[in-house]
Amino acid sequence: MKEQMWNDVDDYFTDKLHNTDPVMKAVQQNNADSGLPGIDVSANHGKFLSLMVKMTNAKNVLEIGTLGGYSSIWMGRGLPENGRIVTLEYKNVHAKVARENIERAGLSDKIEVIEGAALETLPTLKSKGWTSFDLIFIDADKPSYPEYFKWALELSRPGTVIIADNVVRGGRVLDPEDPTGKAVRNFMDLMADENLIDGTALQTVGAKGYDGFAIGIVK
Ligand code: SAH
Ligand code: DHB
Ligand code: MG
Repeated sequence: MKEQMWNDVDDYFTDKLHNTDPVMKAVQQNNADSGLPGIDVSANHGKFLSLMVKMTNAKNVLEIGTLGGYSSIWMGRGLPENGRIVTLEYKNVHAKVARENIERAGLSDKIEVIEGAALETLPTLKSKGWTSFDLIFIDADKPSYPEYFKWALELSRPGTVIIADNVVRGGRVLDPEDPTGKAVRNFMDLMADENLIDGTALQTVGAKGYDGFAIGIVK
């Protein structure tokens, strides 16, 4: 009942605010046709990420967890002319589909997909010239979130915005038995260090159920 209402309201905002279009629909269709799981961000959350890129004037963006590039494309749309995104994905098929989608969205010159396990590719970014990012979106495997946070700090400067998806997961963040809940709590322990970052977390409902984002600004 409530879930139906959340979906209806999400659809209402998506349509009202024009937060989808034929390219985004084609991306979702290509993902589904290629057998990718439908765990990308919602349309309104994609637009939110795009607005975050604009609000922070981000030029260099890091994404950990590409899937089919849906959120990458949203953030890509928020970039200025000289803006760039590097997005990390360990599944070959996901990276391939993401590159197709990014091409279709006309963003191949701005978004680079790096294939491989993120904990192996993150240490290579500095030598590839990515010294510090303006905005970092963490959205890959939840057990590695604490490690991703440490890498995000390593690749940040004061003022870098760090956003992490799926920190609520239907309330599992508080489940003492859930291993990913524990990993998210360990991540939140790092987010809570006021010497490092000033943060908050927002619960969300809608097309992707009950979940949430953590957001912080590096000190
Ligand atoms: N950001 C995407 C959704 C990402 S889903 C969107 O909103 O459109 C999470 C992705 O992280 C999946 O594609 C999964 O294959 C990838 N992933 C999981 N573990 C990973 C790892 N260790 N390194 C890199 N990518 C990983
Ligand atoms: C999962 C991953 C996500 O990034 C997401 O937004 C939802 C679910 C998952 O691995 O189940
Ligand atoms: Mg996610």
